[in-house]
Amino acid sequence: MELLKWTRGLNIGVAVIDEQHQYITECINRLHKAIEDENRGAIDASFDEIIDYTVTHFGFEENLQAQAGYEFCTAHRRAHMLFVKRVGVFKQQFDASKDEESIEIGQEVLQMLRRWIINHIQQEEDYSDFVLMRMNERTVGKPKGWMSRLFN
Ligand SMILES: [Fe+2]
Ligand SMILES: [Fe+2]
Repeated sequence: MELLKWTRGLNIGVAVIDEQHQYITECINRLHKAIEDENRGAIDASFDEIIDYTVTHFGFEENLQAQAGYEFCTAHRRAHMLFVKRVGVFKQQFDASKDEESIEIGQEVLQMLRRWIINHIQQEEDYSDFVLMRMNERTVGKPKGWMSRLFN
């Protein structure tokens, strides 16, 4: 059974970001499956995918916030960096672990990610409201604006 189920309540209203968040939850579900199967190679692969994709997602969000002129982008960026650091420590532990420990570390990572993704999404409501507001302002009468370049 899937660990995380995507519901409409998780959408923040910026479609491109919602798709990325949904993809991250799918990666977390893959990690869950790999742990259930006790498949170290699959755990490793999904762990790497989560790190790579999340870093890309963060970059995308930071760029979007900068372009929209979001006031608290520095604090948001700091939260992203802390998460990357935290996950990196787990990854090092996982890579250095013996097979019998690796499943346990995988489970710890999974629990952390499960809480994190929900918090991450809930904390994005402030910037998404701002981005949506700017999107409406700038697209009125300006269909070739910066937002339409991002979203078309
Ligand atoms: Fe996000
Ligand atoms: Fe974020």
